[in-house]
Amino acid sequence: METKQNHIGIIGLGVMGLNLAQNISNQNFRVAGFEKDPALIEAARSIATNIDIFDDIIAFIASIEKPKKILLMITAGEPVDEVINYLQEYLLSGDVIIDGGNSHYKDSLTRQQQLLNLGIHYIGLGISGGANGARYGPAIMAGGSVNCYKTIEPILRKVAARTDNKEICASHLGESAAVGHFVKMIHNGIEYADMQIISETYDFLSKGMGYSELETAKVFKQWSSSELSSFLIDISVSVLEYLDKDTKQPLVSLILDRAEQKGTGRLAAIAALELGVAAPSISESVSARILSSKKQERVSSSKIYKKPEAKHPYLDIVDMKKALLTAKISAYAQGFDILSAANKEFDWDMNLADIAKNWRAGCIIRARFLDEVAEAFITEAKLANLIMAPHFSSILKDSIPSLRRVVKWGITRGIPSPVLSASLSYFETYTSPNLPANLIQGQRDYFGSHGFERIDKPGFHTSDWNQ
Ligand code: 6PG
Repeated sequence: METKQNHIGIIGLGVMGLNLAQNISNQNFRVAGFEKDPALIEAARSIATNIDIFDDIIAFIASIEKPKKILLMITAGEPVDEVINYLQEYLLSGDVIIDGGNSHYKDSLTRQQQLLNLGIHYIGLGISGGANGARYGPAIMAGGSVNCYKTIEPILRKVAARTDNKEICASHLGESAAVGHFVKMIHNGIEYADMQIISETYDFLSKGMGYSELETAKVFKQWSSSELSSFLIDISVSVLEYLDKDTKQPLVSLILDRAEQKGTGRLAAIAALELGVAAPSISESVSARILSSKKQERVSSSKIYKKPEAKHPYLDIVDMKKALLTAKISAYAQGFDILSAANKEFDWDMNLADIAKNWRAGCIIRARFLDEVAEAFITEAKLANLIMAPHFSSILKDSIPSLRRVVKWGITRGIPSPVLSASLSYFETYTSPNLPANLIQGQRDYFGSHGFERIDKPGFHTSDWNQ
């Protein structure tokens, strides 16, 4: 009996690749897998018996039905180019390469253009949700030819996450392959900011109020059934509650306070500046990780600089909750402002409401709050900024005073709050009709004759200042 060819092939059977392969196979698709690492091949063959696993790439390619669909789940950068350069020798016009890694969006644009010259389609696929998401339902953000997307859509819609009302979190967001990876990058930028404000809240409660990890977990658990409900709050409860088996201490209290980063959040901060968008919550979350990595320097400097003695430890817990929500709204407003700027700069037509909807399940920043973000952009597609949406402005008018009190409380104690503070500053600046930028213009004109506009007469002016 002739062996049926596989519907799709996956190159890269690491954590994400193997989990995604199993997810696709469980949806009754025939899946071929290729991996060059013998240890990963052995592991894959023992775990995923329903997947056609190859260590010979020619046989792997031959096992896939035409037009061939090959999903790359490999490390971003040169490895992707190496695999593409190899594959293009064996693929034909009409075949499809789907890049499911965290590739840089500019690379995705170049690859799409290069492969199209050979008639090969390239889809940039942002996949979010970690290993568990890949296995049971990630959020999927696709960029590339919509006709090509439709050939893989049946598979993607089957494996993607679903919201409580069964809406599928897999979307085609634009014709450019760069769009899928750009949206994933901004997802990760928001993820960094969201994780940082949660960690700062933990710091305020523990260092400032003397809460234990278990007491903080209890507070977060109460908040997880409120408008703060999110995957990141939920996993923070689990991380804070988890007791180390040997010491019976909260494991988190034994973890070294140095945050790693593979770099996607940093790329989001760079993209914001390249697009002329202020995203201080995202860039400060990256800086916070960088400073956390300087453990020895921080220990040494703490011996020179003592923190102020706290007069009274009391911080209103309702203020803390409102501060967390306010900073979250500010951070998301910045993330969506980057997406909006990218639409203008790259002449894309990303639907911001669709992106918010796509993030409601499966991805790391999934949260109830995204329903309201989507609603804000459905109501006003050209919304200048999320904080101008009536739903959010009514929340912020009530909660900004709390963020001001909380940031002030932390400042008087020397407790760092890089993203809580940046989120507040972003809001204060965005809502100030008059800023001291007039002095900056004067300074620039003084030393560089760069000119300035005046408020009392039209045109561009300069001054000799040296009178
Ligand atoms: C996701 C995650 C994932 C992330 C890694 C590493 O959406 O599933 O964002 O893509 O890149 O978990 O994250 P770091 O950048 O923190 O190392």
